[in-house]
This record gives sequence, structure tokens and C-alpha cells, in this order.
Amino acid sequence: MSRSFNSNRYNTMIYRACGRSGLKLPALSLGLWQNFGQEDDSEKARRMVLTAFDAGVTHFDLANNYGPPPGHAETVLGRILQSELGQYRDEMVISTKAGHEMWPGPYGDGGSRKYVLASLDQSLKRMKLDYVDIFYSHCPTPETPLEETLTALVDAVRMGKALYVGISKYPPEQTRRTADFLRKLNVPFIIHQPCYSMLDRAIEKQGLLDTLADLGLGCIPFSPLARGLLTDRYLSGKIPADSRAGKNNPFLTPGMITTEMVAKLNALNNIAKRRGQSLSQMAISWLLRDQRITSVLIGASRPEQITDNLKALSNITFNRDELNQIETILR
Ligand SMILES: NC(=O)c1ccc[n+]([C@@H]2O[C@H](COP(=O)([O-])OP(=O)(O)OC[C@H]3O[C@@H](n4cnc5c(N)ncnc54)[C@H](OP(=O)(O)O)[C@@H]3O)[C@@H](O)[C@H]2O)c1
Repeated sequence: MSRSFNSNRYNTMIYRACGRSGLKLPALSLGLWQNFGQEDDSEKARRMVLTAFDAGVTHFDLANNYGPPPGHAETVLGRILQSELGQYRDEMVISTKAGHEMWPGPYGDGGSRKYVLASLDQSLKRMKLDYVDIFYSHCPTPETPLEETLTALVDAVRMGKALYVGISKYPPEQTRRTADFLRKLNVPFIIHQPCYSMLDRAIEKQGLLDTLADLGLGCIPFSPLARGLLTDRYLSGKIPADSRAGKNNPFLTPGMITTEMVAKLNALNNIAKRRGQSLSQMAISWLLRDQRITSVLIGASRPEQITDNLKALSNITFNRDELNQIETILR
């Protein structure tokens, strides 16, 4: 079965070139890390993907280990592709990754050729795809020679199993080595996926954004809402039971919602209100004001959050006063 989507969807979305490549990505992309596990509501998961696609979100980001159990998010997307999005495959950019632990034993994680290529085959099977658009090395793996991991990415492209390659969480120096190595082999290395939000500015300090601009690479920040902190979820200081922190997620525990954090979020929210935005919309706009950012990679636990976040795109400029006030709060 196939279905139709809003025929205006590509006119309302902003698309930005991914670095100096020919690939354009939507200003907002959807990640399937959380809320696409076996215990999650599969109907809600389906509606999230379809809501995003209907609004011109063409890019869906996965990794081998997204679940739980690991792999389940890819299985869920595979089902949606088969049942409703199959005829739109060429209108979508689907990415996956290998790097973190996926299966037991010495070949189930890291950067070895054996793991990376086996993992990609498994991902393709779960998603019932012949190829992914972007295949990432999910994290630096110091115990593996960088060249071995990169050669596996090269071969994924040569075998037609990936169109482009990317890296995630690599520091600037390794990003440069990666670009040098892959450029010589004419492999389209186009994107970096770092953690970046108003509340996590590490990549600015590292100089990663400048490195990416210099190398002509796209940048797609993950956890742009700081895993849900930069939303209205925690503004009252209470932790909703159905929120990520309420479910005691190891990446956002109740202990992280301190009085100081709640005060900071409310101060940011006051600026957002003056801009006519919600806190999550402002957090997304704040990233997109920088042209070095190709796309902002959000997560969601319900379709309404995606619709809400898309409204950020109608105001992505900030005046000097707003930026100064934000910096003062975050200092
Ligand atoms: N490369 C890597 O190592 C890596 C690591 C992490 C993530 N990622 C990628 O980045 C994607 C996004 O990560 P993330 O889920 O941490 O991103 P995020 O956008 O920072 O957080 C998403 C969470 O924020 C809350 N939220 C979103 N919109 C909202 C709204 N309008 N109102 C209220 N709450 C809202 C929801 O939490 P509630 O559940 O509380 O409703 C949602 O699950 C992942 O899916 C994955 O693709 C990559």
C-alpha cells in the first residue's frame, strides 16, 4: 500500500546543501534513536515518520544499535518503508551507522572492517533496503587504525551499499585526517554528526565548526534540544512521567533537572516567548542561524512535537541583543 502526501511539502521546507556536496538536506531531520523500540507504540512511531515526511522532512537518521533491542528502530523503519513509503525511496535520505556495541564478542563493535561491513549488511536487511544514502562511522575507535575503518566505508560505497559517508563525534584532527584520506580516493565524505545545542557547546571550543567549514563538510547536530531539556517539558521543575527524564533514561536522568537548570531554562524560555517561539523552537532556530549547520537532527516522542518544532523554521534570525542575552544566561 502506498499513500499520498502534502503536494506542497517541498515548498514549505528549507533545504540546505550538505557542505560543498550536491546533496541537500532538510533544515530539520528526524532521528529514530529513542521511541522506536520494541516496547514503544509502533503506531505512534509510524505516525511520527509519516508526519515528518508529509512536512518535507526527507532525512531520517538511524544507527545499527537504535532500539531497544538494538536494530529494532531499523526494523520499524523497514516496515514503514515497505508498507507506505516504498514509492518515495528516491525522495528520502536514510542514514545508518556502525561503531557502538551491536552484538556480543570481539566483532560486534568498534571500527574493524569485519564489524563495520557486517553491520551495514545487517542494517540493510532490517530496513529492507539495497543501499543507505549516508553510512557513518558512529564514533572514533582508538583501538582500530583509522585507515581500516575508512577503507571499510570506501568499500561500502564501491559496493553500492552507501552513496555518501559521514563520521560522528570525531574531533577536528581526526576529521581532517579522514577528509585527506577519503578525498584521495574520490569517496564522497560529506557530513559530520556532532552533539551540539545551546547547552552543549563543546564543538565550538574544539574548533570543529571551523574545521568543517574549512573542509567543505556538512554539519548535522544531534540532541539539539539537549535530549528534551530545551523544551517546555521541565519548565515547572516537575518531571512528567512520560518524559525522557521521567522514564529515567540513562542519557537524561531526573538528577540532571536541577533547580539551577530549571532557572536557566525558564530564563531562555522568556527570550523565546519574546520572539514568539517556544523554547524548543528557539533552540532549533539558534542552531540554524549559523549557515555552517546543514540540518538539525531532532528526536520526538509524538508527532505533535515534530509539527511544533517545524515552526522554528519561520524565524531563524536573531538580533544582537537576543544573542547577548542568551550568552549571559548560558555563561
Ligand atoms: N551520533 C550519535 O552518537 C548520536 C547520539 C544521540 C542522538 N543521535 C541522533 O540524534 C537524534 C536526536 O537525538 P535526541 O532524541 O537526543 O534529540 P533532542 O531533539 O535533543 O531530544 C528529543 C526529545 O525532546 C523532546 N521534545 C522534542 N520536541 C519537543 C517539543 N516540541 N515539545 C516538548 N518536548 C519535545 C522529546 O522528549 P520526551 O520523550 O521527553 O517527550 C524528544 O524525545 C537521534 O534520534 C539520533 O538520530 C546521534
